[in-house]
Amino acid sequence: DLSTTIAGVKFPSCVMNAAGALCVTRDELVALGKSRAGAIVTKSMTVEARQGNPEPRYYGFPGGSINSMGLPNLGYRAYAELIPELKQFGKPVIASVAGLCEDDFPTIAAVINAAKPDLIEVNLSCPNIPGKPQIGYDPEASERLLKRVRKVITVPMGVKLPPYFDPAHHEVMGKVIGRCEVDFLNMINSVGNGLVVDPDREEVVIKPKGGFGGLGGTIIKAVALANVRAFYKIFQGKIPIIGTGGVMNGVDAFEHFLCGASAVQVGTVLVEEGLGAFGRLEAELAAQLKKKGYGSVTECRGKVKEL
Ligand code: DHB
Repeated sequence: DLSTTIAGVKFPSCVMNAAGALCVTRDELVALGKSRAGAIVTKSMTVEARQGNPEPRYYGFPGGSINSMGLPNLGYRAYAELIPELKQFGKPVIASVAGLCEDDFPTIAAVINAAKPDLIEVNLSCPNIPGKPQIGYDPEASERLLKRVRKVITVPMGVKLPPYFDPAHHEVMGKVIGRCEVDFLNMINSVGNGLVVDPDREEVVIKPKGGFGGLGGTIIKAVALANVRAFYKIFQGKIPIIGTGGVMNGVDAFEHFLCGASAVQVGTVLVEEGLGAFGRLEAELAAQLKKKGYGSVTECRGKVKEL
């Protein structure tokens, strides 16, 4: 059984797209609806529509990907109008809410909430706006923002977190989240501001920000698993977690579940392989669960053994 439940919402499959991957336009969102994806997750939205950063702005390589998209999106009003249509595919719709400044988030969240997506993901971790640090790396700003959006959101509210690299940071963000009535967590966003170099061309591989960009794929899996595990332990499994980062096959997804995830999202593999990735991942995950004697993802959740 590959279905899962997050914050009381039933998902037909525990594998879905990560925000940003094939989810900007109406056509892309409808295609996700028709695919085997367990949910439709929207691109993080801003108040005004944006073209995003200049191309090339995504580059895939054997170990993963780097991107500096710069929040290309249709603007929140367009997504608010699309949500009722997207809800007809028999799977949850997760709206990813962002903004270019703190005040944008409650504006967007209120209108999106009124369109009744099944869940809202508040993105504290967009790293690709030149000159702006991520809110998720500022605990006070994060708490202020989460308390403001919580007031206008009535559907289950989740937080998309950046990777943290120190237990003290997990601890302090755990306390913030514990004070903000957060219904679910999603981690990790891309590992921010990596640099990939093409040694043959002696060049960086993406144009924005001098080549710096968010890393995804296989090279970030261990960081993602560590963050899932850290927050699963902090909340003793009581806040459901969507595991995102480095899921390229069914066994990677299984590792996320062992660490405490209730679902997984895929970015790099979806962009590289297309919508067929969902069917493959589900088949591989089902085979892995069977091989290990688990009847469902719920059964193996959090069960990783320590030595
Ligand atoms: C973008 C990248 C992110 O990692 C994110 O969380 C939001 C937006 C982007 O560059 O478009």
